[in-house]
Amino acid sequence: MKNNDEVRDIVDKLTLDEKIGMIHGAAFFRTEGVARLGIPPLVMSDGTMGVRQEFKPGTWKPAKHSEDAATYLPCGSALASTWNRSLAFKAGSVLGEEARGRGKDIILSPGINIKRSPLCGRNFEYLSEDPYLTGEIAAPYIRGIQEWDVAACVKHFAANNQETERLWVDVRVDEKVLREIYLPAFYDAVKKGGAACVMAAYNRLYGRHCSMNHYLLNDILREEWGFGGLVISDWGGVHDTVKTAEGELDIEMSVTNDFDNYFFADQLKIAVREGKVSEKAIDSKVGRILALMMQLHMLGGQRKKGCYNTQEHRETALAIARESVVLLKNENSRLPLHPEKIHRLLLIGENADLKHADGGGSAEIKALYEITPWMGISSLLGGNTEITYAQGYFREVKKSDSDADWQEKSLENGGGRVSRGEKESKIMERKREKLRREAIAQAKDADAVIFVGGLNHDIDSEGKDRQDMRLPYAQEELIRELLEARPDTVLVFIAGSPVEMNSFIQKADAIVWSYYNGMEGGTALAEVLFGKTNPSGKLAETFFKHLSDCPAHALGEFPGGTAVEYKEGRHVGYRFSERFDVAPAFSFGSGLSYTSFSIEDALYNPSAGTVRCTVRNTGLSGGKETVQVYRRIRDEGGFCRELAGFEKVEVPAGENRAVKIVLREIEEEDQELYIGDSLLTSVKI
Ligand code: GLC
Repeated sequence: MKNNDEVRDIVDKLTLDEKIGMIHGAAFFRTEGVARLGIPPLVMSDGTMGVRQEFKPGTWKPAKHSEDAATYLPCGSALASTWNRSLAFKAGSVLGEEARGRGKDIILSPGINIKRSPLCGRNFEYLSEDPYLTGEIAAPYIRGIQEWDVAACVKHFAANNQETERLWVDVRVDEKVLREIYLPAFYDAVKKGGAACVMAAYNRLYGRHCSMNHYLLNDILREEWGFGGLVISDWGGVHDTVKTAEGELDIEMSVTNDFDNYFFADQLKIAVREGKVSEKAIDSKVGRILALMMQLHMLGGQRKKGCYNTQEHRETALAIARESVVLLKNENSRLPLHPEKIHRLLLIGENADLKHADGGGSAEIKALYEITPWMGISSLLGGNTEITYAQGYFREVKKSDSDADWQEKSLENGGGRVSRGEKESKIMERKREKLRREAIAQAKDADAVIFVGGLNHDIDSEGKDRQDMRLPYAQEELIRELLEARPDTVLVFIAGSPVEMNSFIQKADAIVWSYYNGMEGGTALAEVLFGKTNPSGKLAETFFKHLSDCPAHALGEFPGGTAVEYKEGRHVGYRFSERFDVAPAFSFGSGLSYTSFSIEDALYNPSAGTVRCTVRNTGLSGGKETVQVYRRIRDEGGFCRELAGFEKVEVPAGENRAVKIVLREIEEEDQELYIGDSLLTSVKI
């Protein structure tokens, strides 16, 4: 109660001008403080892969400071592929400590929107297609951030599942589906993670912008969930002074530097003076801001100092990267490669040598460094192996993709779709053929060949969606020719979202998948390829064979027009592929290991809401396995599975470990639970 009284006392001392200054951006990443009362500004920063660089005041031009580089963490999709809750906590803890170390009060992370389509440009930032897995990773991540007296700001609330027309698109989704698929992870973020802030999404929901959506912010967030924290707009996501101020949004942020013209600035002052907005509504917003400041020890008291770019943080980034790499295919024991048998290694593909930290939009990171696959492999093999590199393909970078002030223009167009580049000119085609020929020629003499391709942040980026799932830059042609010349070529893909693999998936022995994996991504990848790390990543999204197999495209709409209909309903990802027998290229939850495991003696205890089992490592190397429990539910006249619990465990070779899985809270007690295809017996204890 003390805090409430203190808050009230402070609010009573504030003038209207001072209150207004506290609820809108006074710069791109901070609000105004009230010096005379010792109230500091509220300072924010992106993002989902680390603490973003500083900008020149009032501009989106990098300040180019010497001390604002940061630890570049694996992206959200990589973190989710670890299926490791404690690593999620550690990732959050690194982000929180670095944010504090850089003087931030709010970090605009995690991004947890459901992956409805593989084309969404921001999928790399998001976690999964499954709301339960998303919540189970987001909650500890948020707790990790907030242990550093920094507020997490979970985003983008809600149903922001595409970039095309993101500022205006009206999402039309059945309310039951909204509550079953698109809201639960935010509920977990708030209730289990204790998120102190929520970012209202750009888009409209049922016709109304999220920033002024009474159903979303008041009925659900405030009333049903009891959320007492801050609701912050996305940058430029407010469109009306009165309707928004009378609602539950607390702070307006935007991308233009006419801060006094913001909807929550002079216009709001006039609206209050004219009685169109009650000052009481302003007081509630200011009260929540002050309450957050108290929670973060900003108004006196001992506040954590934080620090950034530490060795410990880099070790955490590496630990996450190691557990996020997914071994999709491994036949003829192609992997791991044996260094002692390789004197000449050929690396082919731009992604062997490309850094990804400073791309993707607001998630961009000015990394202290970034280990590419080539650097990681070189450092692992040392000088005894001759490593040669063939570019194999090239990406055409359009000017617009590298505009430093893209964010300032981000309100001009509501987010468009990435163009597939100009039609390939004859010159480009000839250049591609030449690169392919050179790569193939070199492949013939190498002891081993590793192709590293995929996507990059010219494609996986905020503000745009892909047009299809095809690999760009004629990579498929190169892969086809490579597998002809060297069937033992190891294929490695680095990307933020799935790509079509139909033209080579049967021919290739080994396929390895890595999301944008942070500053130590190349180290982790090298360790997996050469067996120093046994891969344990599992897909947190379905890799469909064809875009047309994805429910948003098969049954629903993507990206729609001014409105988008989620006609696929709850059938998102594996809920569709399994329910309608649409075999994917690689399934949700799949990922291989260099060892083998058996799961035995599984028992389901309905009254305890747990499953216990034994995981036995039946192979020759230690490894980690994620036991996944699915429940079988009725679904429109049929049945389908949905994830009901999981636990990751490390088991040395030849040993076994007991595992206890706490199932997600569900209404009905007795249900059919499966691990793999085996139905669990339930035991009444
Ligand atoms: C962007 C993004 C949001 C980000 C914010 C600040 O437009 O949608 O995720 O945190 O603006 O850069």
